[in-house]
Amino acid sequence: MKAITPNHTTNIVMKENTNNHYDVIVMGGGAMGLATAYHLGKRKARTLVLEQFTFVNQQGSSAGVSRQFRIPYPEEYMVQMALDSEPFWEELQSHTSVPLRDKVGTLWFGDPAVHSTEGNIAEAEKALEALNVPYTTLTSKEIEEKYHFKNLPKTYTGLFQPDGASINFKATIETLLELCKKDPHTTLEEQSPVIKIKQADHLFEVTTPNGVYISKKIVVVPGPYVNSIINLLHFTIEATYWNMASAYFKKTDPSIQYPTWFVFQNPEGENGNQFYGFPEVDWDHPEYIRVAPDFVINDIPEPNDRSFIPNEQELAYTSQWIKDHMTGLDPEPYYTSTCLIALSKIPNKELLIDFAPYYVPNHKNIVVYATGWAAKFTPFLGKILSDMALDGTTAFDISPFQLGDRFFKAF
Ligand code: BEZ
Repeated sequence: MKAITPNHTTNIVMKENTNNHYDVIVMGGGAMGLATAYHLGKRKARTLVLEQFTFVNQQGSSAGVSRQFRIPYPEEYMVQMALDSEPFWEELQSHTSVPLRDKVGTLWFGDPAVHSTEGNIAEAEKALEALNVPYTTLTSKEIEEKYHFKNLPKTYTGLFQPDGASINFKATIETLLELCKKDPHTTLEEQSPVIKIKQADHLFEVTTPNGVYISKKIVVVPGPYVNSIINLLHFTIEATYWNMASAYFKKTDPSIQYPTWFVFQNPEGENGNQFYGFPEVDWDHPEYIRVAPDFVINDIPEPNDRSFIPNEQELAYTSQWIKDHMTGLDPEPYYTSTCLIALSKIPNKELLIDFAPYYVPNHKNIVVYATGWAAKFTPFLGKILSDMALDGTTAFDISPFQLGDRFFKAF
């Protein structure tokens, strides 16, 4: 697969514009929307970002403070995407003195037979080997000795990949926001939900409660709220919605440091039994460690049904897992948070990156990113989406992420 680099840019030609005319309107001002706008600005595209809430809000998939950067995936194309993201993270890092990633490594461990929503250890090892990514394999005893876990079943295995990191996601979003604010080609509008999209003469007329704006292209990146926009264009994405719970646990042993980690286990009853965690970092509840369940007991039908209160049972399972298997932590949750995420219902399509389906007028001028866990790709995805908008194509192979015409449902 061909890697693309941050230098791959062709500036578009600036046209005379009236005030409400843009080359591209980006719908959604979370991490992906701002990353897209940042890359559009670098190419001097006149860009408007419409955010329905406020920038750096807690209502969507960009909520919270930390995320995991990891290279292990069961699919080679995902490993490649993580590798391709590296130079874009470095480029973004060059704009701020705040470290955006704490490189503590990725530890994946658990039952080697489990195939979870995040993958399978043996398949990830194969994909890492195919792309010459360094990692070490671990026995259950080694995981306990090196990484502070305890009472793991003897059958558990693990892998450690040293390039994994805890992403300071809040700082990432704030850095992108500052870059967009400074960019002379970019306009940012908050409290601006898109309520109407009309098309005429290959232009989009986009209405919010604050105004009417015209553009040649649109990029739709409102995270879990994607259907509220694409339904205006008469297509939809089939997704389930998770109100993901997360909690912070106090360190009782200050000398212990965990890497970013993920445990794969067999489900017991309704409990998906997958958990993940982070190191202690000074930028997110210092002296506490974030550990979270990667399962949701009750899906929610629509994004607006979400609650900001985490599910108690999910937190109870997490506390129990910490009590049983972690050291140096008080298993009582001190702080909690939630994050709303949309998951694609289409098998093997975690991230959806595509143009609108053919039956939507000007479909090649409508770029959509939706569903899945993509924080680790933020600056790279911004580059991909901006190139799709300006060039109608990207040098990155998006075929594994495309829905084509089969999966969007017209109504
Ligand atoms: C991820 O790295 O994609 C991930 C990590 C924790 C929970 C869910 C997804």
